[in-house]
Amino acid sequence: MKRNPLFATLSKQYLFQEIQTKARAFQTANPDKKILSLGIGDTTQPLAPSVAHRLVEASRELGNPETYVGYGPEVGDQELRERIASILYPGTLSRDEIFISDGVKSDLIRLLLLCTEKASIAIQDPTYPAYFDAARIARNAQVTLLPCSKGAPDLTKAPKGSLVFLCSPNNPTGEAFTKAQYEEIISSALERRLCIILDVAYREFIRGDLPRSIYEIEGGKKVAVELGSFSKMAGFSGVRLGWSVVPKELCYDDKSSVHADFLRLFTSTFNGAGILSQKGGIQALSPKGQQEVNSQIASYMEQTRLLRNALMKKSFSVVGGEQAPYVWVKMDNRSSWDAFDYLLETLGIIVTPGIGFGPGGEGFVRFSGLAAPKTVSEAISRLQSL
Ligand code: MLT
Repeated sequence: MKRNPLFATLSKQYLFQEIQTKARAFQTANPDKKILSLGIGDTTQPLAPSVAHRLVEASRELGNPETYVGYGPEVGDQELRERIASILYPGTLSRDEIFISDGVKSDLIRLLLLCTEKASIAIQDPTYPAYFDAARIARNAQVTLLPCSKGAPDLTKAPKGSLVFLCSPNNPTGEAFTKAQYEEIISSALERRLCIILDVAYREFIRGDLPRSIYEIEGGKKVAVELGSFSKMAGFSGVRLGWSVVPKELCYDDKSSVHADFLRLFTSTFNGAGILSQKGGIQALSPKGQQEVNSQIASYMEQTRLLRNALMKKSFSVVGGEQAPYVWVKMDNRSSWDAFDYLLETLGIIVTPGIGFGPGGEGFVRFSGLAAPKTVSEAISRLQSL
């Protein structure tokens, strides 16, 4: 077999693996040092009680001949799709426009298969590195980077007809688009025939009245696919559950339906998300589940606020931390990897180097507020000693 040459164009390791490799090497060399991980944005609070209870109950149902089921619908449990539509997108979407997946990453590749091999791809910079890797692997794409350090990316710079990856609240900067920014994004997309793939994995962390979805804005359904996830919202990073929204209004240049092709592609590449995860997702979207997961989100955001304050007190230049559980910090004049090494060696704190999110992230590091409470408070007291 000949190797797909595109693999040679990727970095040797995916960002979070590279961090882990460095952290392990440091721990081996310094066995007595207690390392605090504020690197990968992984949740640490246990599942909400009613969700955990529902998972146990659902396992029993699978162990009972009267209630056992095999495959479910490939596109997802109807009740879950209904709840996502009515609770997260009230009055905007129908259940048929929601496809249940096991998380954002797997649908990235599927969505890229919808466009031609020659399609141009544009990606906001800095942002979640999986978009870039997926674009390289699936489409050998010449990627146009759209800087977003000083506000929303300027979509008039995206090649006409391109697929544009955006994220709001943005991982890593923690900033969410305003209504006015969405209006500009939609207007450029209509004008330039762009298709937006918007990742809203952190939408439930938005405080205040910023939009949580592009579909809250007129025209959003004509230009965007949205990707959502239960990972951060309900602590499902291990349980695995997400969704993609492909609105029926979204069309190719020849006016044919993107929804129809996605349905075709989805059903031949996926046998459906796990039944247990989906039952847990339904519970997370029940009134009781919502109350529980929202209180967890509030406590992650409180930790993030404390981290942000501690970093500001040290006079670092700080953004984010208000609409997502990430604080984006410029560490004097250090490069991102220098700052990473400095924090690890002097304080034993692991962060994520900003350059891993694209060239626009150079000079920054990201602190995650999703760590365990003890880890965050210990990190804050170590930061005070800087
Ligand atoms: C992150 O730390 O940016 C993400 O949580 C990792 C992921 O979701 O793949």
